[in-house]
Amino acid sequence: MTGVSVVTWTRACATADLVENRPLGVVVDEVAVCLVRTGGELFAVHDECTHEAVPLSEGEVDDGVIECWRHGSCFDLRTGAVLNLPAIRPVAVYPVREAADDVLVDVHHA
Ligand code: FES
Repeated sequence: MTGVSVVTWTRACATADLVENRPLGVVVDEVAVCLVRTGGELFAVHDECTHEAVPLSEGEVDDGVIECWRHGSCFDLRTGAVLNLPAIRPVAVYPVREAADDVLVDVHHA
């Protein structure tokens, strides 16, 4: 069937595992995901910089942006857009939500 998109929520961690502005790297359905709670919102992006294969979850978060620790490229957590060199490609953004005590991510719909 075409035109039908089924969301596949998978538990990523407990809500209590997410500390404000402290990225958390998890694996969801064999996909590396960087979870961030910041400014009262929750974000999930692919946990790999698009410049080199290093985890974004080891970077720093500030004002809706995560900065790669390696060379300093910044990515918009909401859109995945890259904001400065040396990375030039956006990072994948995944749907994420909280349900009761769980954080759920859909890694199949970036
Ligand atoms: S590895 Fe992320 S900016 Fe170079």
